[in-house]
Amino acid sequence: MKNKYDIIWLDSVDSTNDEARRRIGTCDNLSVLSAVTQTAGRGQRGNSWSSVPGENLMFSIILKAPHMKVMACDQSVISQIASLAVTDFLAMHGLRAKIKWPNDIYVDDRKICGILIENSLRGDWINSSIIGIGLNINQRNFDVTIPNPTSMALEGAETPDLSVCLEEFMGIFSDYCSRYLNITGGYLKIRTMYLSQMWRRNEPHRYVSGGEEFIGIIRGISDQGLLVMENEKGELREFAFKEIAYVI
Ligand code: BTN
Repeated sequence: MKNKYDIIWLDSVDSTNDEARRRIGTCDNLSVLSAVTQTAGRGQRGNSWSSVPGENLMFSIILKAPHMKVMACDQSVISQIASLAVTDFLAMHGLRAKIKWPNDIYVDDRKICGILIENSLRGDWINSSIIGIGLNINQRNFDVTIPNPTSMALEGAETPDLSVCLEEFMGIFSDYCSRYLNITGGYLKIRTMYLSQMWRRNEPHRYVSGGEEFIGIIRGISDQGLLVMENEKGELREFAFKEIAYVI
């Protein structure tokens, strides 16, 4: 049976996000580059991303205008869709995962998936988006330097072949794109679904901002995708990604 999605499997690459950027001119919208090994896998905040070769999924999806019509000011919707697609995929395999804002995926207090989105803009619009996803599937032993990692196998889920997992994931992801991305009112529906999946929402927890630790309650996200946090005085404040860290 021919695969439904245009998935290119690579043995070894520096980073699937970098390879996607190099190939973007010749790849169609919704193409996927997936690697067995990354030699320079990248994470958020300048971190690296590592995985035992062949045990986990490491892939990048290419979205391109004009198929994707998203304004630069709405770019957080892409991160929300990617996060929801991962939590839905994990739910299909019996795991209750939550989204640690903006787009880490957690099972309880353990990280099962990281997402690195790199957009290129043309004027007020996103011209292309590269959605890099590292989803831990089979790995059971992690380097001690990786904070609180987990995988589907460690959480007791059945783990089909990586290629089957990726096809399943792409089914969910592309469905979100066609149902919500270029549709009036779609972003609001996505935001509502995202809020319902947010990790630690409406619970008091410790956070650090500007070198100070405080207790706050995540209340939601703003139109621009900023984190909306309530402090102990009941005041609401918005945080950008680099302005706040969770105490886990
Ligand atoms: C993070 O949690 O810091 C984001 C991690 C993103 C990792 C994926 S693996 C596939 C793609 N290629 C990369 O170099 N990074 C992303």
